[in-house]
Amino acid sequence: MRKITKHQIRVSFLGYFLSLTLISSCVSGQLGKNNGGEYKNGMVVSAHPEASAVGIEILKKGGNAVDAAVAVQFALSVVYPNAGNLGGGGFMVYRSAKGEINALDFREKASSSARRDMYLDSVGNPIVDKSLYGQLAVGVPGSVDGMVEAHKKYGKLNWNQVVQPAIDLAQNGFKITKRQASELNGLHRDFMKFNPNGTAFINLESTWKENDLLVQNELANTLKLIQEKGRAGFYEGAVADSIVAEMQNGKGLITKIDLQNYHSAWRKPITGTYRGYKIITMPPTSSGGIALIQLLQSVEPYPLKKWGHNADSTVQLIVEAERRVYADRATHLGDPDFYAVPKNELLKHSYNKNRMSTFNWNSATPSSSVLAGNVSGKEHEETTHFSIVDKEGNAVSITTTLNGSYGSLVVVKGGGFLLNNEMDDFSVKPGSPNMYGLVGGEANAIAPNKRMLSSMTPSIVEKDGNLFMVVGTPGGSTIITSVFQTIINVIDFEMQMQSAVSAKKFHHQWLPDEVYVEKDALDSLTTEKLKAKGYKIMSRGSIGRVDAILRTKWGTYQGGADPRGDDNAIGY
Ligand code: DON
Repeated sequence: MRKITKHQIRVSFLGYFLSLTLISSCVSGQLGKNNGGEYKNGMVVSAHPEASAVGIEILKKGGNAVDAAVAVQFALSVVYPNAGNLGGGGFMVYRSAKGEINALDFREKASSSARRDMYLDSVGNPIVDKSLYGQLAVGVPGSVDGMVEAHKKYGKLNWNQVVQPAIDLAQNGFKITKRQASELNGLHRDFMKFNPNGTAFINLESTWKENDLLVQNELANTLKLIQEKGRAGFYEGAVADSIVAEMQNGKGLITKIDLQNYHSAWRKPITGTYRGYKIITMPPTSSGGIALIQLLQSVEPYPLKKWGHNADSTVQLIVEAERRVYADRATHLGDPDFYAVPKNELLKHSYNKNRMSTFNWNSATPSSSVLAGNVSGKEHEETTHFSIVDKEGNAVSITTTLNGSYGSLVVVKGGGFLLNNEMDDFSVKPGSPNMYGLVGGEANAIAPNKRMLSSMTPSIVEKDGNLFMVVGTPGGSTIITSVFQTIINVIDFEMQMQSAVSAKKFHHQWLPDEVYVEKDALDSLTTEKLKAKGYKIMSRGSIGRVDAILRTKWGTYQGGADPRGDDNAIGY
C-alpha cells in the first residue's frame, strides 16, 4: 500500500484541513465572515474577502452571475493561490432564473504522452510523491479555457471588464491574511526547492506577516495576456512557451500541442430529487454529483429530522450510506469520454435501496464485506445540453482546484502562476490510495488526454421550481459528504444557511474503514454508542469549507461563509 508521507500530510492539511491550532479558534456555531444580513439583489460567497468584493462590484456594474463568477475565479488566482488558479481546473453548475441548467467541465487532462504506469517503479509499485510534486504531477490546465467558454456563452459585460479586477489585485498587491502568512511561511522551503529562481511567494527578507502586501507582477502580465487575447493568451504564445519550458525543468510531459488541444466540455447536469427538492449537480468527470444523489436516495426513507442532527442513528445511517456509495465511486466512476459510467443504474432508487438492504442497526458493516454494486447496462455519454439564459436570478456554483494546497508547488517561471498536481487524482495503481485515501481502478486509470476523476460537487437546489440553494466546498474526498450534510442540515434539520455551513461534520469513505469526526461533532454518549457497534471513530481537523447561498421564501439571499477559513459572504 502506498504510504502517505509526513510531507503529503503537511501539504494537504495546511491548505485545506487546517492545523489543530487554527481549528481550536473555530468554535462550534461561530459565524463566518458574514454579517448575517439578507439581501435582495445578489450575493457572493468565496474563500477570500477580496474575491467576494470583486464579484459584488461586477454585479453592481450590471454584470450577471457568470460575469461575476469569471471575475471571482481570476481574482482567486491572485488572492487565494493555494486553490484559486489559472493553472488548475474545475467545474461550473449553472441555473438561469428561468430554471434552465447547464454544467461546464474544465477539469485538467493528462498529457497526450501520459501512460498508465507513469508513477510506478520497475516492479509496479507507486513511487511516493511522484504524482504529487513537481512538473510530472501536472495535468493540462483547464481553468482559463473554462472561463472563456462560460463568458462566451453567458457573459454580459465585456471580457476586459471581468479580467481587470484580478490584474489590479496582482499588480497593486493585496494584504495577506494571518492564515495566508502562516501558510506561506510554512511552505518557504518547499517553494525554494521547486522554484530555485524565485517566486512572489518567497519572502527572502523576513517572514510573512498578516497585512503584508503580496504583489505578483508576473501573474499580472499573464492576466493581461489573457485579457488581451482570451484563450490564446494562455494556451499559445509566451505563456504556453513558459509552461512548456517549466516542464523541461522537471521532466514534465505537457507540450504545446497538449495546450492547444485542451478544451473544456459542456455537460448535462445530474439531477435528482430529495424530499420534494430538486438537486442539480455535476456529472462525471466529477464523482460528486452521482454520489450526492446516491447518498440522498439512501437516507431519504429514514426520519432524520426525528432522530436529530448528529444523533447516533443519523450518524450510523449516513456512515453506512457513505460506505456503499464510496465503494461504487472507486469502481464505477471515471472520465465519461473514456469510460462508460453506468450513471442511470447508480441513480435508480431501487439500486440504492437494495444497497442499503445489507445494513444492520446492531453493528457496523465491515467495509471488507462491501464491494461496489453490480451494475449492468453500460451506457454511452449523453448529448451535451446547452441553454440560453436571462440575467435576473441566475445562479452559478463553481468548484475549482490545483488539487493539493498550492498544487505541485511549481510556479511557472515568467508566468507567475502555480501548476496543479491533479494527476494524483487518477488511480495510479488499482487499489492504491491517493492523497485523500481514495482508491480506484480501471474507470480512473491514467490514459493520454483523459480527465482524472474528481470529488468536486458544485450543486444547486431548487424548491417548487425556484432557486433554493447554491452550495459547494473543497476538501478532497470529504467534499461529497460536506455538500450532502449541508443540504440535509437545511432540509431536514431546518438550519439557516450559516448554521448549516458552520455545523460540525463527519465523514466515511469506505476505505479506510474509519469514521472521521470534527472536534465536538459528536457528544461522548453518541461516540460510545457508535463504538459499541464496531465503528472506529477518529477525530480529525476541519471537514470541508462550504460557501453557500440560500434563497428564503421571501426571495432574499442568506449567505453561509465557512468559519473554517477566511471565507466571506457579501450581499447587496
Ligand atoms: O478534484 C478533486 O476531487 C480534488 N482534486 C479536490 C482537491 C481538494 O478539494 C483540495 N481540498 N482539500
